[in-house]
Amino acid sequence: MADEKSSTPAAKLWGGRFNEPTDAFVERFSASIQYDSRLYRQDIRGSQVHCRMLARQGILTDEEADAIIQGLTTVGGEIERGELPFSNALEDIHMHVESRLRELIGPVAGKLHTARSRNDQVATDVRLYLRGEVDRIRRALYDLQKALVDLAANNVETILPGFTHLQSAQPVSFAHHLLAYVEMLERDFGRLGDLRGRMNRLPLGSAALAGTTFAIDREWVAKELGFDGLCENSLDAVSDRDFVIELASAASLIMVHLSRFSEELILWTSPGFNFVELPDAYCTGSSIMPQKKNPDVPELIRGRSGRVNGHLMALLTLMKGLPLAYNRDLQEDKEPIFDTVDTVRDCLRAMAGLVPGIAPRKERMLEAAGEGFSTATDLADYLVRRNLPFREAHAVVGRIVRIAEESSRDLDQLELAELQAVDPRIGSEVMDVLSVEASVNARTAIGGTAFETVGTAVTGWQDRLRARVEKRSD
Ligand code: ARG
Repeated sequence: MADEKSSTPAAKLWGGRFNEPTDAFVERFSASIQYDSRLYRQDIRGSQVHCRMLARQGILTDEEADAIIQGLTTVGGEIERGELPFSNALEDIHMHVESRLRELIGPVAGKLHTARSRNDQVATDVRLYLRGEVDRIRRALYDLQKALVDLAANNVETILPGFTHLQSAQPVSFAHHLLAYVEMLERDFGRLGDLRGRMNRLPLGSAALAGTTFAIDREWVAKELGFDGLCENSLDAVSDRDFVIELASAASLIMVHLSRFSEELILWTSPGFNFVELPDAYCTGSSIMPQKKNPDVPELIRGRSGRVNGHLMALLTLMKGLPLAYNRDLQEDKEPIFDTVDTVRDCLRAMAGLVPGIAPRKERMLEAAGEGFSTATDLADYLVRRNLPFREAHAVVGRIVRIAEESSRDLDQLELAELQAVDPRIGSEVMDVLSVEASVNARTAIGGTAFETVGTAVTGWQDRLRARVEKRSD
């Protein structure tokens, strides 16, 4: 809980040049501790490595460094256990840690900030923190992909109407439809891997903006903190937030994918479609209409995509027009990106939990797959194989569809003679291409929806996901 009293200038770690205390409201207005306290582990780890480096370089003595490093471990434990009170007077997590360190070990604590500024410190903390979040989101993406592939494996031969313009178009395998989302999530996984590489560079050592006068060893610090390299321009290092925006952008795309799938689940559970049943544990009822079972979880995921997209816009707008180097505006990167990673992780988890409980109503899906003359393209393809140009075949089938529509029948309910009256080149074997099963199974080229092709795709994904887990446990 942050207090509201204004503190004396001397109490501030930067209070030296000030005569008057900070206004109490301004303290609250400018404090970030309420949300940046979640960086405490990264802040402490970064400080400990920085401190050890200062000792290695002879800038601090080993005794000084030992006292600081031990003290920082104590502070970390206190924060972990919720024992350190937060105060707006101390602004942010960096000040809280340092000020508590001074209470614990005395003035030597003041040596920790040698060759460092909060500007390179916060940039380092955020990179470390988000790096961990990227890894967690990638694991959550895997979990959802796994759930989708498992459901697909049981539904290779389940037929669903495929839509364009939300109009019945051509029948497809339900597994094929599910694997479309696995593909989207795979691109998300790759994007996070790419941006992680750019994110994983060390800003620390850039100090306030211009670098430091001390003979520090940035490479050693980078290695100790698991960074792949250094930010090589101090001005850029302290003011770059591209990695935050890249993550927000990748997160927005994840949410777009989840939102599209949510929308489909919402449609599929509505009475007009009635294609799937969702697990009770992921739905809620209505307080007035006893018959209702609402798809709240997909609806909330669809809704939260708006929040994450909004954060991306906020971050882009935050950075636009900022002069070099650090500006306090940059403190405003935290709430949007923290909420982004929380939201994406929760939504992935919710969806991965829901997917195994999706129960397709196979009969109903199959019935719907045959509606709307969904095998008309197959009839046209049949005529093309009988040597009609596709455009001509298209026109012939158009006439046949009109006959079927006018007499309220499906294509496979028309008599052969009626078909031949439209075009005498139609033979009796045409009936074999008009069923939905035949239509699905005719599409055998890679990427198509034939059962066998989809079965191969499912096995391919199972192997790929298994290899991912094995790589992780190396
Ligand atoms: N809380 C600040 C932030 O998040 C830390 C850096 C403050 N630096 C400064 N020069 N006031 O950006």
